[in-house]
Amino acid sequence: SPVAQSLSGRHAVVTSGPTHEPIDPVRYIANRSSGRQGHAIAAALARRGARVTLVSGPVTIATPAGVDLVAVETAREMLAAVEDALPADIAVFVAAVADWRSADAADSKMKKGPGGPPALALVENPDILATTGHHRARPRLVVGFAAETNDLLANAVAKLDRKGADMIVANDVSKGGADQGVMGGATNTVHLVTRSGSEAWPQMTKEAVAEKLADRLAVLLETAP
Ligand code: C5P
Repeated sequence: SPVAQSLSGRHAVVTSGPTHEPIDPVRYIANRSSGRQGHAIAAALARRGARVTLVSGPVTIATPAGVDLVAVETAREMLAAVEDALPADIAVFVAAVADWRSADAADSKMKKGPGGPPALALVENPDILATTGHHRARPRLVVGFAAETNDLLANAVAKLDRKGADMIVANDVSKGGADQGVMGGATNTVHLVTRSGSEAWPQMTKEAVAEKLADRLAVLLETAP
């Protein structure tokens, strides 16, 4: 059934998927993010009438209907695409951005040799959420995700301030089980953390998390100063 067009006239930027950080022309550093949660959030925001820019790393899932996809590979490309997409009313950072990239990706394929394996020097990637949270064109609502195994609420509150976010959706990855859905799975068990408190949501599909979050963001945007 059609949902209310409560985000009509709004622009939302969503990051999704992993990033790929090249080591040489044929190898890269990556992670197991499927993009399922980020893509579901982009779809839910679009269904509520928002114009949605979905900045996604390499994924195999389909682009949701009605969103503008910007396909990127690296964290630096993702940051540039997010900054290009501003201004926005809402930004939701769901991508599993690689924390590090190769300090000097080789221009040609690295070869095995008598010298033994190469040393891989890493440097830190930019934090896309923190950059946007402290941006001169900061969106009204800035939302991050966090996978925590312990001190979930304390870590999420600290992340609110450090990253300049209004809300952190904290994944409880300590619960275990066959399908916690944290990387590549179908479900998520999250806590919604804002400066005014936190609430625990039951285990839900990533699509259900997306719908509930989109509804919440629409209300916050209506009522925020
Ligand atoms: O610091 P941590 O990786 O736990 O933060 C997770 C949140 O920050 C997620 O919303 C993720 O999309 C975002 N992030 C980012 N750029 C990075 C690292 C994380 O946007 N380089």
